[in-house]
Amino acid sequence: MIEREVKDVVTPEMASDGAGVRLKRSIATRTLDHLDPFFLFDHFGSENAGDYVAGFPMHPHRGIETITYMLDGSVAHRDSLGNAGVIGAGDVQWMTAGSGILHEEMPRVGPRRLDGFQIWVNLPRKLKMTGPRYQDVPAARIPDVVRPDGTRIRVVAGQVDGVAGAVGEIFADPTYLDVSLPAAGTLEQPVPRGHTAILYIFQGEVTVGGGAGGGVAVPSPRLVVLGDGDVVRVRAGGAPARLLLLSAQPLHEPSVRWGPFVMNTKEEIAQALQELRDGTFIRR
Ligand code: CO
Repeated sequence: MIEREVKDVVTPEMASDGAGVRLKRSIATRTLDHLDPFFLFDHFGSENAGDYVAGFPMHPHRGIETITYMLDGSVAHRDSLGNAGVIGAGDVQWMTAGSGILHEEMPRVGPRRLDGFQIWVNLPRKLKMTGPRYQDVPAARIPDVVRPDGTRIRVVAGQVDGVAGAVGEIFADPTYLDVSLPAAGTLEQPVPRGHTAILYIFQGEVTVGGGAGGGVAVPSPRLVVLGDGDVVRVRAGGAPARLLLLSAQPLHEPSVRWGPFVMNTKEEIAQALQELRDGTFIRR
């Protein structure tokens, strides 16, 4: 068993997207364009409605999956498939854009803060033009694994101690875990060798890798790129910590990004833009 060590530690950059939502971006920046198959990692979180209320008005996607995971507050959404709803604290929306979708994501001003994540996972060439699909998962359907040391793991996707995640049948064979570590708690989690794996520490401070001793101390908020191996080890210090652990199978295919599209060639991007102008972008 090879432990995955820290390959890189990324400090999120402040960014503005949609109609003016302020967020912390760790992937899709000048420093880190993508990390096959992850093409975006955004953390939105604010007590100030002015930072998020403008939202993400109607916009297209093609060639990717977008995964929204809410920690607090809520976002109203509607789309070209006729879906509409609200995702709130603890809910997940795993959207496969495939051949194309138009959707709107509008945060609601609530009594508390808005907090959550959006991640984009690239689709392989053979699934770029697959039919769009949603997996909407309410918080109550996401398994909660509590280990003897008090570590609590919400299993969005993947497997923990034989418990399968709420989201399945995804090409990238992803792991998506929300891990709450008590003070001095340790997480040891197998991750398939060859898969791209990252951590996002968003509360407290942890030590990553290094076997039983050593390792790299990482404060929050930081994204950690892990080297290859079979198992991830994270330890909290004297205070509780919280992080996401994500992994997915890399595609090793050429990719071209233009705004909300990720395709294999420039011609496919040009075609998507042409179809948007022609009104033929939505196929089903
Ligand atoms: Co979107």
